Amino acid sequence: MNEKSVDTRWRMAYHLMPPTGWLNDPNGLCQYKGTYHVFHQYSPEWPTGRERGWGHFTSPDLVHWEHHGMAIHQDIPEDASGAYSGGALVERDAEGHDVLLRLYYTGNVKEPGDYDYIHAGRQANEIEVTSEDGYTLSPKRVLLRNADYPDFLSCHVRDPKLWREDSAEGSYHMLLGARDLDDHGRLLLFDSHDGESWTYRSCPTSMEPFGYMWECPDRVVLDGREYAGFSPQGLPDEEWRWQNESNCGYIELPEGVRLLDVDRLDQRDFVEWDRGFDFYAPQTFVDETGRTILLGWMAVPDVDYESAPEGLGWIHCLTVPRELTRARDGRILQRPVAEVASLREDGRELDARGTTTLPHHRADVELSGITGDLRLTLDDALELVCEDGAAYLRFLDEAVGAGRTERRVRLGGVASLRLLVDESAVEAYLNGGREVFSTRWFPRRDDLTVTLACDCASARAWVMRDVMGNTYTH
Ligand code: FRU
Repeated sequence: MNEKSVDTRWRMAYHLMPPTGWLNDPNGLCQYKGTYHVFHQYSPEWPTGRERGWGHFTSPDLVHWEHHGMAIHQDIPEDASGAYSGGALVERDAEGHDVLLRLYYTGNVKEPGDYDYIHAGRQANEIEVTSEDGYTLSPKRVLLRNADYPDFLSCHVRDPKLWREDSAEGSYHMLLGARDLDDHGRLLLFDSHDGESWTYRSCPTSMEPFGYMWECPDRVVLDGREYAGFSPQGLPDEEWRWQNESNCGYIELPEGVRLLDVDRLDQRDFVEWDRGFDFYAPQTFVDETGRTILLGWMAVPDVDYESAPEGLGWIHCLTVPRELTRARDGRILQRPVAEVASLREDGRELDARGTTTLPHHRADVELSGITGDLRLTLDDALELVCEDGAAYLRFLDEAVGAGRTERRVRLGGVASLRLLVDESAVEAYLNGGREVFSTRWFPRRDDLTVTLACDCASARAWVMRDVMGNTYTH
């Protein structure tokens, strides 16, 4: 446990964040030998230190977490500039027991010199470490280097996602994100018979240009349908789409089509995971109950709004784990995993035409059977409005928004809302998770006011327990 004392204003009570420093993407998500593992991009000495590696959380139940500090350091020449994002693969024996955890990540190396680091000067090494107990890691093994990638790619190749699936070329598959020499984002696939020696398979891109780099690719399978997830950089900001500086989403593949066999993705089918302000680089895994679970980074790179307005010694968090299911029209629905509701206490009815005050900025709010328009305002500072076939998340108070203004999505109507408030994080799930807004905010009050104007069958709120307080010292 980190012994540093940190400023606890706005620290999360049930969202994942390390004791100090910087967190970005979730990495290596898995359930191994019964324990949930969430690794993450981590710079423990931020804002001064420059190390970038993998931090490590574990949990027995997706709500009580322990942080184990840094798991993967940048300590070999092949990851000299950072142990970047990647995924996990769980090996099982013939009886289905977990026997080996394999973690794959990108070793980033920026060579000293006068380079643009796009076409030259950067190494992207795919590296594996393994673990039998989930905690003690083997020495690193470098699997792929720049020379192994197609020569039409730039030096931007990273973020391996691994899975097992039978095919003639091997049952191990690695999916990477890439930028080609024409500045088009691409997926990059390799096959293997053993998870160690890899052969190039394909490098699909979109039918029309769709961003210059695709980061953090993912493969999701729901009800037998496959989805390609990725985080494209460089989509132009439009009124109703792609409002964040970088965006992320998924494309459902046609029925019967495997990601392994795709050579063009139809970018017109791209659906954004989350409408912002703070969501990027999500990853998924399948747990022992068969649920597909997603966690995202609650931030976006290179934005002009603040995520640590007062220099707190820590910054950023992950979303709560979200269970994914497929709606009949192929849309992926996202809902907080059921375990999140075990943190609820002190439930109460909300005044649907007035203000209810809750004692903390830790709340789970649930509205169902909504008819007509909806307006929900937190602390008179952040409002969620559903009207005229659209939903808007809007800051009314500049200090609380720290540079955030408005995000919007076309919606049809609104029937239900689940809203998670956790100190400086808010996640709003509309219509059973068809649309989600995730944002940071920096409230100034001690208590939380929820002001509602809507017609609904039920409006309830609970105070959420603080289960992350043990990850730092006051
Ligand atoms: C996405 C990303 C990844 C990279 C990591 C480095 O936020 O840029 O592509 O591996 O962050 O921290």
